[in-house]
Amino acid sequence: MAQQSRPHIILASLTLAGGSRYPSALGHLVRTATVAAYLANVLELDDAEQRRIYLVAPVHDIGKLGIPDDVLLKPASLTDAEQEVMQRHSDIGADLLAGTPDPILQLAASVARHHHEHFDGSGYPGGLAGEDVPLAARIVAIADAFDAMLEPRVYRQGMAEAHALDVLAEQSGGYFDPTLVECFLKKVSEVRRVRAAAEGLVQQYGDVSGVIRFYGARGESPSFLRYIQTLG
Ligand SMILES: [Fe+2]
Ligand SMILES: [Fe+2]
Repeated sequence: MAQQSRPHIILASLTLAGGSRYPSALGHLVRTATVAAYLANVLELDDAEQRRIYLVAPVHDIGKLGIPDDVLLKPASLTDAEQEVMQRHSDIGADLLAGTPDPILQLAASVARHHHEHFDGSGYPGGLAGEDVPLAARIVAIADAFDAMLEPRVYRQGMAEAHALDVLAEQSGGYFDPTLVECFLKKVSEVRRVRAAAEGLVQQYGDVSGVIRFYGARGESPSFLRYIQTLG
């Protein structure tokens, strides 16, 4: 039992560490993970796989721990050179997670490494295309991009939802897996509801308690995952 719960404790701790790296990071991590788990549910992946995606998605950006403040917190668009520094967060995060044989942490490493790959092969760090991009990373990629577009930044306002949905549609088969875009657009009102539920979790309980509730007290059966599955 204790052995089983260990990856969840590690993932919860890393989520909190990553969430403290810049203002509002934690909300992004929890909302992205919740939408990713919801999409896994819509795709009818088996329960264990849905649960694994839910557990690992919040650490997709953990490599940002290794990005210097002047790039990560820059209140303006990044130069090309700074963009290159920022892009290292994929490999930094994956390397941080990959040093263990635990299969859940291995999946976390894979998602951290590949969540900025594009379906057409134009992403980073591997330039992988199509189904060579692991499915969990393709799912997190679309949930991550959607949340990032809606989030306000110091130097720009958040995008209107309708505009973000247009970007997803335009990038079907480009940045994003077309099957996932179709499923996202078909279920957009449910996506909105689960994303709001995730936001509510962090708002209501605060960072630490919100993350503990997200992962479940013991990690074996996260009740928030069951809750969002009922929202669909
Ligand atoms: Fe990222
Ligand atoms: Fe992200």
